[in-house]
Amino acid sequence: MTMTDDATLVLPAAQPRLPAALVAERVSAWFGDHQVLEDVDLAMAAGEVTALIGPSGCGKSTFLRILNRMHELVPGASLAGQVLLDGHDIYDPELRPIESRRRIGMVFQKANPFPTMSVHDNVLAGLRLTGRRTRRSTSDDLVERSLRSAGLWEEVKNRLGTPGSSLSGGQQQRLCIARALAVRPDVLLMDEPCSALDPTSTRRVEETIRSIAGEVTVVIVTHNMQQAHRVSDHCAFFLAAEGKPGYIVEQGRTEDIFERPQDERTSDYVNGRFG
Ligand SMILES: Nc1ncnc2c1ncn2[C@@H]1O[C@H](COP(=O)(O)OP(=O)(O)O)[C@@H](O)[C@H]1O
Ligand SMILES: [Mg+2]
Repeated sequence: MTMTDDATLVLPAAQPRLPAALVAERVSAWFGDHQVLEDVDLAMAAGEVTALIGPSGCGKSTFLRILNRMHELVPGASLAGQVLLDGHDIYDPELRPIESRRRIGMVFQKANPFPTMSVHDNVLAGLRLTGRRTRRSTSDDLVERSLRSAGLWEEVKNRLGTPGSSLSGGQQQRLCIARALAVRPDVLLMDEPCSALDPTSTRRVEETIRSIAGEVTVVIVTHNMQQAHRVSDHCAFFLAAEGKPGYIVEQGRTEDIFERPQDERTSDYVNGRFG
C-alpha cells in the first residue's frame, strides 16, 4: 500500500495473485465436553473447489468455522489439531484472528447483505470492517471488479445506489460473494450457499463458484449431490455414528468419489440411499 498526499490509503491495483492451499491436520472439535469432530485430515488445494458432503450433524459447518477461526467465538467451544494456510498455522498466537478471517472469507447459507445499504456500499462493507479506507476512484474500480468476479455486474451496474434488499435472493447471495471477494481473500468458505435459492439462481451461483476458483481456493458445504459433482474438484465425505464425533470416511477427486467410491457408505450416500 502507498500513501497519497491526502493521506488516504490506496489499495494495490488489480494484480494476478495465487490462491493459497489450506491444510487441516488431525482436527478435532468440542462443544463443552461433547466431541463433534475427530482427527480430520484434509488438504484443500490452491485454486481448487473442495466440497464437504455428508448428513446433517456430522460436523461440516463446525469444520468450516474452524478453518477461519469462527469456532472459537462459541462460548465453551474448543479444538485440537492444526490449520495451515500456505504452511502457516492460522492459530499461531502471534496472528490476530481478524487477519486469518480476512485471508479466509465466508459466505453463509442465508444471504446477509446489509439491507438498507446500497449495492455499492455492500460490496465495500467487508473491507471497511478491516479498517481500510480507499479513494473514491479506487473503490469504484474495486466494486466493479468484485461484482464482475461474482457474476453480478451486468445485472446491477445501473442500480448500484439501490438497497441490497431490493435484489433477488440469488443476486443477494452473489452480492455477498462480491463483498467477500472485495477483501481479496486467499480462501472462500461457503456453507450451503444455495440451499435457500431456486434452481436458476443456484446455477448462477455455481457458475460464479467455478469462475472464481483459480482466483481463490473454495471450500463449499453442500447437501446437493449434483451440485457437489458439478462444482467441485475434490470431495470429502463426512459421517458421524449416533452419539459419536464426525470424521471423514472417504475423500478424493470428485469423479472418483462419485463414480468409483471405495467405501460402501460413500456409495450409498452419493447415490441418495441415505442422509
Ligand atoms: N453452537 C453449538 N453448541 C453446541 N453444539 C453445537 C453447536 N453447533 C453445532 N453443534 C453440534 O455439533 C454437531 C455438528 O454440527 P454441525 O457442525 O452444524 O454439523 P453439519 O453442518 O454437518 O450439519 C451437532 O451434533 C450439533 O448439534
Ligand atoms: Mg451445517
